[in-house]
Amino acid sequence: MVDSARSDEAPFLADCWRAMLDELKMAPGGYQPNWRERLARFFADGIARGQQAWFVVRNGEGTPVATAGVFIAETSMIQVDRIATIGGVYVSPAHRRKGLARRLTEAAIAWAREHGCTLVRLSASEPAETLYRSLGFTRGRELVLRLDSDLAQGSDRVAERGE
Ligand SMILES: CC(C)(COP(=O)(O)OP(=O)(O)OC[C@H]1O[C@@H](n2cnc3c(N)ncnc32)[C@H](O)[C@@H]1OP(=O)(O)O)[C@@H](O)C(=O)NCCC(=O)NCCS
Repeated sequence: MVDSARSDEAPFLADCWRAMLDELKMAPGGYQPNWRERLARFFADGIARGQQAWFVVRNGEGTPVATAGVFIAETSMIQVDRIATIGGVYVSPAHRRKGLARRLTEAAIAWAREHGCTLVRLSASEPAETLYRSLGFTRGRELVLRLDSDLAQGSDRVAERGE
């Protein structure tokens, strides 16, 4: 049921990433005009270089309805014990509460383990926190500094740069 995404599905992965950001209101400053192309290139390159993997669940027609990505940081490449980040866990609304996110996250964790990672990081949305805790995630040492007033002006700054 859980399948690896092909690199030609990168534009779909980008759409899911965008849907996740929209739903979680994580991009209050808006998006770069070429967001889809940039994300799709980043995902396709990462898959081709073996530095990231994407897992999907498809519907009967073969169209992915849920995603999860796992990334090994470039800086982690010099270490024997590597660190992975899970991101892009997204399930289309019509397919929720059927265990898809759980299966996808498990696949991402298994990939990280198989690729020599000894630590997996992620930033949990509120609805996903119970899921991740049930898979063994615990609070780490990450600190954040909120600069919301800056972010709220993000789209103006992009416009000023002429992008
Ligand atoms: C969060 C999300 C990924 C969950 O996907 P899902 O396939 O419905 O999750 P699962 O069916 O695997 O749920 C596993 C468990 O997670 C918890 N959970 C899932 N959705 C939840 C919600 N909306 N509120 C509270 N707990 C939730 C439950 O404990 C659930 O187990 P249960 O159904 O037996 O009670 C999905 O709602 C989504 O895409 N949300 C928007 C994007 C997002 O938040 N992504 C996570 C980024 S870190």
